[in-house]
Amino acid sequence: MTKVKRPEDLRSHRWLGVSDMRSFGHKSRLRQIGYDGEDWEGKPVIGIINTWSEINPCHAHLRVRAENVKRGVLQAGGFPIELPAMSLAETFVKPTTMLYRNMLAMETEELLRSHPIDGAVLMGGCDKTTPGLVMGAISMDIPAIYIPAGPMLRGNWNGQQLGSGSDVWKYWTEKRAGNISDDEWSEIEGGIARSFGTCMVMGTAATMMAIAEALGLSLPGASSIPAADSNHPRMCGQAGRRIVDMVWEDLTPKKILTVAAFDNAIKVHMAMGGSTNAIIHVVAMARRAGIPMDMERFDQLSREVPVLANVRPSGKYLMEDFFYAGGLRALMTQMKAKLDLSCITVTGKSIGENIDGAKVHIPDVIHSLEDPVYAEGATAVLRGNLAPDGCVIKPAAADKRFLKHRGKAIAFDDYNHMMREIDRDDLDVTPDHILVLKNAGPKGGPGMPEWGMLPIPKRLLAQGVRDMVRISDGRMSGTSYGACILHVAPESFVGGPLAFVQTGDEIEIDVDARRIHLHVSDAELANRKAAWKKPAPKYPRGYGALFSEHIGQADAGCDFDFLGPLGPVPEPEIH
Ligand code: FES
Repeated sequence: MTKVKRPEDLRSHRWLGVSDMRSFGHKSRLRQIGYDGEDWEGKPVIGIINTWSEINPCHAHLRVRAENVKRGVLQAGGFPIELPAMSLAETFVKPTTMLYRNMLAMETEELLRSHPIDGAVLMGGCDKTTPGLVMGAISMDIPAIYIPAGPMLRGNWNGQQLGSGSDVWKYWTEKRAGNISDDEWSEIEGGIARSFGTCMVMGTAATMMAIAEALGLSLPGASSIPAADSNHPRMCGQAGRRIVDMVWEDLTPKKILTVAAFDNAIKVHMAMGGSTNAIIHVVAMARRAGIPMDMERFDQLSREVPVLANVRPSGKYLMEDFFYAGGLRALMTQMKAKLDLSCITVTGKSIGENIDGAKVHIPDVIHSLEDPVYAEGATAVLRGNLAPDGCVIKPAAADKRFLKHRGKAIAFDDYNHMMREIDRDDLDVTPDHILVLKNAGPKGGPGMPEWGMLPIPKRLLAQGVRDMVRISDGRMSGTSYGACILHVAPESFVGGPLAFVQTGDEIEIDVDARRIHLHVSDAELANRKAAWKKPAPKYPRGYGALFSEHIGQADAGCDFDFLGPLGPVPEPEIH
């Protein structure tokens, strides 16, 4: 360790190291809690931002894991302080956790800024918690290490391995088609989530935990460890020890998060077959770090990096298998030739040093560049008159016949309209139709709910149809699949072209050419635009109103306009 900070250089010194009336107040109140001078004198104060809550099954173990972190911090000569933060349980928070990602980012930043904190341990994993925590820590830019909650164990039903989300969609479709009984559905409900931890497919949680590690913000291999594995508490103790050294080294996020680090993370995202949601989060995180980033970079790198992880929903296995196969270090070893191995990480060492010696133990789970699962990367960015600022598709998870397709639109004004119409017996729909959902975007949802995998109409389900083209300005769960075109920007709520699509219009998609085209003349589109009335905002007051006013579009990462890479925020005065 190269120590560049002295105790009097610590942020916490301003609260605890001086001898004045305010410092008396701080120290007497610490003594009130039961601490003594020996606990803090000359020691870095480590804030453990913990997103545990009793209603977040993905983080159920983080209450105990925080104690493992504290043990490590104490061993290394730090002073651990746990600070609870908003938990954002994906399945429970309505209308969508995406509405609150920026709130968690603000909370993280302000918890760290307003308290005498020298270094941060960020504990999260469920979808929006990783970007929320990381975005806040980047903006605060004190040394920080991210602890991924880790995936839950494989699901089990009748001897079949069940995957979070993916198998819910699959069996729900079968139930709607009349192929699954109520009793069987109840058995699946009891077998699909067998332990604490995040979804165990390559959904948004697994994708974002891997991205955080690939960026260099987690200990090597941390993101693949199942939540219930004893490696997990040991990793937490190591992180607690390491963050104390990081404070003395002054190793801050912005020193780690370079352009090359983000390229590494996007390449890992492609090789993992990661969630489309990651595009929004990575763009937001990069911009917080002062790095210009747009969706185009994803598209460029997706053409360079194939999918190597054979994990659902694009592949066959689950995250527990991925861990046994060698985990992220093994995957990164397979794609060494594509990565910048010199990037520095929280260990103080390079990515190359961190993955040195890693091996693939199960080649069918982690493939090689020579024998990929899919030849191209996980996501493609399409542009055209329907999405001038872009939209995304996950080709690996779609029926290949839809990657080049022309069909007639069936347009829904919003989610409720779609739900009223979709299962009507008289819905005029064929498998070649294209379902279009409006007002599911950042402002229109608001918060871009995961409505993008529109249900297949009942009429078609009965005919055995399981995929069709669906277009929206919303997102879809990382556990979802199908020919779903998402994140259409600009969104319909602000008058993007999606707002003017009518039932019967023809839409053409060509994923190879990265093109999406609405076959309506410019003159006709201009007429429709002139007749268009902007919908009323859903939230007249409160956080929803603040969100709708300040949220950015999907292609810009959906950050608040006042939270982007602006100038530094002053340190608090200690009065
Ligand atoms: Fe928490 Fe999927 S619900 S990770």
